[in-house]
Amino acid sequence: MNDAGMLEELAPHAEALFERHIATAREWFPHEFVPWNRGRDFTPGEQWDPEQYPLPSAVRSALFVNLLTEDNLPYYFHTIDNHFSRCGVFKAWDRRWTAEENRHAIMLRDYLTVTRALDPVELERARMAQMCSAIVPEPESVSDTLVYVAMQELATRISHRNTGKLLEDKAGSEIMTRIAADENLHYLFYRDLVSAALDVAPSDTMHAIERQVRDFAMPGVGIIDFPSHAAAIARVGIYDFAIHHEQILVGVVLRRWKIDTVAGLDAEAAAARDRVIDHIDRVGRIARRFVERRSEVLATAAG
Ligand SMILES: [Fe+2]
Ligand SMILES: [Fe+2]
Repeated sequence: MNDAGMLEELAPHAEALFERHIATAREWFPHEFVPWNRGRDFTPGEQWDPEQYPLPSAVRSALFVNLLTEDNLPYYFHTIDNHFSRCGVFKAWDRRWTAEENRHAIMLRDYLTVTRALDPVELERARMAQMCSAIVPEPESVSDTLVYVAMQELATRISHRNTGKLLEDKAGSEIMTRIAADENLHYLFYRDLVSAALDVAPSDTMHAIERQVRDFAMPGVGIIDFPSHAAAIARVGIYDFAIHHEQILVGVVLRRWKIDTVAGLDAEAAAARDRVIDHIDRVGRIARRFVERRSEVLATAAG
């Protein structure tokens, strides 16, 4: 099924899911979450001092990556709009989603500037570098896009929420929880559209699932030093192989999309499904080794 056909078939499902989203999402205001009374002016050229807000460096890495990812919104909008803009309800969703995403960066940057939790000069230079390179995943079809964003919204929800748990700061925790709640509703919209896509075009959607599961990369790959930030984020359990395996590959791909029982697959799509299941098993083994090694390193460090 081509993209235009897929959008047409999915439109009634998207309308119902969009209505559910509007009925569930409640209005909130970024400015009410920011602890403004903790802020003061920056003198031009002033050196940032990490002692102004002591934090483990891995948590700083997570805040840095999370904010820069939100900052890259224009390019995510571009990718999604390229696939969705032909169809009324998708267009409406795309705009609403963009407006909701935009306030994440607004609130998080205000919080980080007021509390001085990150070096504002390094952050601004990293934002400029990232947005000038404009590297974002570019899924090849409507179904690839839906599968990717479903996994990515859940991954982002998990990452924001786990970052918040490591902030010993009530305002910071509430900000990360608030953003995670938005990401959760985005995830539910895309997750259930993929279920609908598996009904209307099972074989095409299974191929998309295989491509996106195999190639999945967290948003943020275009950020300077992303591999070292990602490693730090994994080390403290904000987002790691075990979480990816358990909550996304098993929780969504196997349990929610139930790929092992999808009906109507042709022979090639059935083979793709089998490869996805093998891949998930393999990631599970890597995840277990990763967690064991991390526990050994922590035990050695503690002993
Ligand atoms: Fe967001
Ligand atoms: Fe989101």
